[in-house]
Amino acid sequence: MNAATSHSATPKASVQTPLLSVRDLSVSYGGIQAVKALSLDLFEGELVSLIGANGAGKTTTLKAICGLLSPSAGEVRYLGQPIQGQGAWDLVAQGLVMVPEGRGIFTRMTIDENLRMGAYLRKDAQIESDMAAVYQRFPRLKERHKQLAGTLSGGEQQMLAMGRALLARPKLLLLDEPSMGLAPIMVDLIFEVIREVSQQGVTVLLVEQNAQRALQMADRAYVLDSGEVVLQGAASELLGNPQVQAAYLGV
Ligand SMILES: Nc1ncnc2c1ncn2[C@@H]1O[C@H](COP(=O)(O)OP(=O)(O)O)[C@@H](O)[C@H]1O
Ligand SMILES: [Mg+2]
Repeated sequence: MNAATSHSATPKASVQTPLLSVRDLSVSYGGIQAVKALSLDLFEGELVSLIGANGAGKTTTLKAICGLLSPSAGEVRYLGQPIQGQGAWDLVAQGLVMVPEGRGIFTRMTIDENLRMGAYLRKDAQIESDMAAVYQRFPRLKERHKQLAGTLSGGEQQMLAMGRALLARPKLLLLDEPSMGLAPIMVDLIFEVIREVSQQGVTVLLVEQNAQRALQMADRAYVLDSGEVVLQGAASELLGNPQVQAAYLGV
C-alpha cells in the first residue's frame, strides 16, 4: 500500500479527535443513578486511569462504554462515531475490548481454549503468531496450556484474561480492577504487562482501587465519586494533590 495515498480516500479524523469520547453519560439501575453526567476523553496511545472508592461507578462506566449496559443519557463515541446500540461483540470486532472485574474466564475450558476465544471474531492469518506472542509474554500460561483455567491462581487467571483480550487485537483496552485480590508479586507483574501493552501503542483505560499504582503509571486520570467526575488532570499532579492524597492514597 502506498503510504502517501492509503488514507486519502476518506477524511481521516485529525490527531486531536479522541479515540474514545464520553459525553454526559448517565447510567441507572432501576431508580438509582450510578453514573451522573460523566464526561471523559481518551486520545490514541494514552494510558488513562479512572479511580474512586468502591461503589463510585467505575465498573458501571466501563460497562456502558463497551456496550454491556445502556445509558439513560449521554453519548459514547469511539473512533469518532457514536456507538450507542452496538453490542459488546460488535465493539470487540472494532478493537474495543474489556477485561472485566473478576476476569470472566471460562474455568472449565483449557487455557488454550480461553485464549482462542479472544480471537473468535478474527479472520486474519496472524492468530497463531499472536498466540505464540501471548505465550511468550506469559510463560506460566504456556507451561499450563492444556490445563483447565479454573485450576489457575488468581494472578494466572488475570494473565489469562489479559492474554485473551490481547488476542482480540485491541485498539482500546478497558481494564477493570486488574490488581484486585492478587498477591503483591502478581500485582507487580500485571502492572508491568499493562505498561508494556500501553508502550506498544494500545490505548488503555485502567480502573483501579489501587490509586497509587494507577496514578504512577497513567498519563492522566479521572477521579470518580458517587457517579461523578470530581477531579481530573495529569496523573502526576493528582498524585501530589492533597485532596487525592487524603481520600485515596492514605497519605
Ligand atoms: N447490577 C446492579 N444493580 C443495582 N445497583 C448496582 C448494580 N451494579 C452496581 N450497582 C450500584 O451502582 C453503584 C456503582 O457501582 P459500580 O459501578 O460497581 O462501582 P465501582 O465499580 O466504582 O465499585 C453502586 O452504588 C452499586 O451499588
Ligand atoms: Mg467495580
